[in-house]
Amino acid sequence: MSPCTEIEEVEQEEISSPLEKEVSRRSFLAVSGVISAGIAVGLPRTLIAEEPHGVAGGPHMMDVTLSINKQARQVSIDTRTTLLDLLRENLDLTGSKKGCDHGQCGACTVLVDGRRVNSCLTLAVTAQGAEITTIEGLGTPGSLSAVQAAFLEHDGFQCGYCTPGQICSATALMEEVKRGELSAVSFETGATARPAITDHEIKERMSGNICRCGAYPNIVAAVRALAGGAA
Ligand code: FES
Ligand code: FES
Repeated sequence: MSPCTEIEEVEQEEISSPLEKEVSRRSFLAVSGVISAGIAVGLPRTLIAEEPHGVAGGPHMMDVTLSINKQARQVSIDTRTTLLDLLRENLDLTGSKKGCDHGQCGACTVLVDGRRVNSCLTLAVTAQGAEITTIEGLGTPGSLSAVQAAFLEHDGFQCGYCTPGQICSATALMEEVKRGELSAVSFETGATARPAITDHEIKERMSGNICRCGAYPNIVAAVRALAGGAA
């Protein structure tokens, strides 16, 4: 038997009983705990990771005034608040929906100075000085906007969850059509000036709004009817 083998056998023998193994495990944990505590207490401040900016002192509150649906709204908010959360949680404007909260579904689409934005990706404080329009500001049950009426006429919804975002998006789309703005499809098809609003164009321009019910054919029909009148 080599000296090495002899040592290994002695070590295995030394902790071979269950009681000894348990004692050995506890000793290890106790030593680890002491070392961890030592590190936490003893490390110089500069070696401890800095806390993320703004978190250590709590939320950074700010007084802002936003123009929403032509009304001035004054709120004191955490600067990290998204426009979507402000609308829904602080101002009770729950028409804008939270689908993904990641800029992927379009359910939260609102208009900022007439342009569509994902309000879940927009910090509320950055919208100061702009005119914000939500679905609540586009029409009323007794006086629908043209886009709302077209969606109703063409059955452009099923469960309705994506519909406020779809309608805000289509509203901005109509303004883009009036201005003769181009889309990726316009360039693909070589239509570089006032492109005809074909179904291909509509699908491209509405592609930021997902409908889990699959109401797309009727949404396209509603926008086609509107664009036909505007072209
Ligand atoms: S909730 Fe904003 S894009 Fe989905
Ligand atoms: S109508 Fe249900 S998600 Fe679009």
